[in-house]
Amino acid sequence: MSSATSTYQNLRVESRGAVTVLTVHRPDVLNALNHATLTELEAFALAFLDDPAQRALVITGAGEKSFVAGADIKELAALDAASAEAASRFGQRVFDRLERSPKPVIAAVNGYALGGGCELALACHVRLAGENAVFGLPEVTLGIIPGYGGTQRLQRLVGLGRALEITLSARRVKADEALAIGLANRVVPPAQLLDEAVQLATTITRNGPLAVAAALEASLSGSGLRIEDGQRLESARFGLLAATEDMHEGMKAFLEKRPAQFKGR
Ligand code: CAA
Repeated sequence: MSSATSTYQNLRVESRGAVTVLTVHRPDVLNALNHATLTELEAFALAFLDDPAQRALVITGAGEKSFVAGADIKELAALDAASAEAASRFGQRVFDRLERSPKPVIAAVNGYALGGGCELALACHVRLAGENAVFGLPEVTLGIIPGYGGTQRLQRLVGLGRALEITLSARRVKADEALAIGLANRVVPPAQLLDEAVQLATTITRNGPLAVAAALEASLSGSGLRIEDGQRLESARFGLLAATEDMHEGMKAFLEKRPAQFKGR
């Protein structure tokens, strides 16, 4: 079954051309992520990655108030030391699958992106924020810390000093500030948010998919490497792309003044 047609209890999946729109759908709890939803998210991610017709993903939350309000606190309250560590590892694994996706993943942050919701947005490659977006890591107010990658990804995006201030104070970061510190790529009126995210995703799908995948891999893997090693990785990917039909098509199309028809090989 394709990622676009699978049915899930807490996710809604819709295709817009080559772009999949995934909506986290637990409106009664502001789309909080319980274990069942994370399990579905992982199954969805695997199906999406396997679906050659779908070339980009937009993630958003149901309703007008919240992207994802975090991990489900009712479930967290029942965890002990061993199960909490396992739950954290599981959430990290699911979000890692999205971050390591060779197809671009864009968050359309339509309201609260708190705790695990902020961490989900951080695992996406690009974050578009509605004017009503509110980011934050309130975990320390609950006596825990971010467990789905937040202590690692936020500092890489906004710098350690800002990340520590946000994490330790648990304060909320509104859309304008998120834009100013690089947590959001753009701020958009709420009514246009999803369309703008789909439009950006569609623009990316017109580019060579192997090149997009290689740019993602070189950038993401490189961010954890010394610059010399990152540049070696870049050259290796640059070399591999030169052996693809897509590269020849891209350059030929430029010289012939026409749009390229990439085939992903
Ligand atoms: N888990 C479970 N239920 C949640 C939830 C969450 N993360 N966030 C909201 N809800 C539920 C509320 O309990 C409420 O349910 P009831 O109607 O049954 O009372 C419903 O959603 C609506 O929420 P509110 O009435 O609180 O709505 P509000 O507009 O007054 O406030 C909010 C909105 C500021 C987002 C507030 O709901 C809130 O603070 N939510 C919790 C945010 C949070 O702390 N997230 C971090 C969770 S921990 C985590 O994510 C750990 C990790 O890193 C893995």
